[in-house]
Amino acid sequence: MDLKLKDKVCIVTGATSGMGRAIAKLFHAQGAKLVLSGRNKKRGNSVVKELKGSIFIAGDVSDPSYNEHLVKTTIENFKKLDIVSINAGILGLGNVVDLAIKDWHTTLNTNLSAIFYISKYAIPQLQKQQGTILINASIAAFKSFPNHPAYCATKAASIALMKQMAVEYAPKIRVNAMSPGPVDTPLLWDSASAFKNPEEAVANAGKATLLKRLGTPEDIAKLALFLVSDDSTWITGTSMTIDGGILNA
Ligand SMILES: NC(=O)c1ccc[n+]([C@@H]2O[C@H](COP(=O)([O-])OP(=O)(O)OC[C@H]3O[C@@H](n4cnc5c(N)ncnc54)[C@H](OP(=O)(O)O)[C@@H]3O)[C@@H](O)[C@H]2O)c1
Repeated sequence: MDLKLKDKVCIVTGATSGMGRAIAKLFHAQGAKLVLSGRNKKRGNSVVKELKGSIFIAGDVSDPSYNEHLVKTTIENFKKLDIVSINAGILGLGNVVDLAIKDWHTTLNTNLSAIFYISKYAIPQLQKQQGTILINASIAAFKSFPNHPAYCATKAASIALMKQMAVEYAPKIRVNAMSPGPVDTPLLWDSASAFKNPEEAVANAGKATLLKRLGTPEDIAKLALFLVSDDSTWITGTSMTIDGGILNA
C-alpha cells in the first residue's frame, strides 16, 4: 500500500503529548519527515527516539521568534515544508471574574497568536510546495463550557483565522481545522479538575456522546491524516467536527 505522506516534510506542534503525539506517530508511519515541537524536552526526546529521523525543537509557541526558528530549522534540515499541524493548546481555566489578566493573555498567545506566528513564517515556503495547514480547534468554538472563557474565545477565533487564511492563500495552500469533542488526553483531565469529582466528569463526558465513549488521540490522528493528505485535495476553509456526536446529543 502506498504511504500517504511519503517524503512530506511536516511540522507538528504540541507533539509531546495527547493528539499531537498521536498525529506525529501516524504521519511518521505514513512516510512523513517530522519536526516536532513542545516545551517538555524529556517527552520530546522520547517521541523523537521512537520516530526515527525526526527532529525535536523545544520551545514556547507563544514566542514569535521560536516559531520563526522552527520553520527556518525545518527548511535548513529538509529543504522544504509541506504540512503544518498546529496542536499546541492550553485551557486557561477560570471564569471571567477570576481569571488573571496574565493568564488570559497567555491562553490567547498559546492558542491563537501562535497560529498566526507559525503561519506567518511557514506560508511563503508552503506556497512553493502547495502545502497545507491544519489547526486543532475544538467544539468549544461552537459550545460554551463554564470556566473556559479564554479557551472558548481562542478556539472560535482560530476557526475564523483558518477560514481567512484559506481565502487568502487559495489555491496554493489548503487551510483546515478539526474540532474535537472530549478526547482522552492530559488536557481533558486538567479540564475536569474544575469539577468536584474529576473522574466522574471525564466518564460523564464520554457518556454524553452519541457513541458513548471518549475520543482517543488516534481517532483524531486519522482525521488529521485525511485532511493533510491527497485524499482531501478539494477541501479547504472548513472545520471538521469529530466529537462522537456530542454536539447533536
Ligand atoms: N483533549 C480534548 O478533549 C480536546 C478537545 C478539543 C480540542 N483539543 C485541542 O487539541 C489540542 C491538543 O490537546 P491535547 O488534548 O492533546 O492536550 P495535551 O495532551 O495537554 O497536549 C498539549 C500539547 O500542547 C503543548 N503546548 C502547550 N502549551 C505550549 C506552549 N506554550 N508552547 C509549546 N507547546 C505547548 C504541550 O507540550 P509541552 O507540555 O511539552 O509544552 C503538549 O504537547 C489542543 O489545542 C486542545 O485545545 C483538545
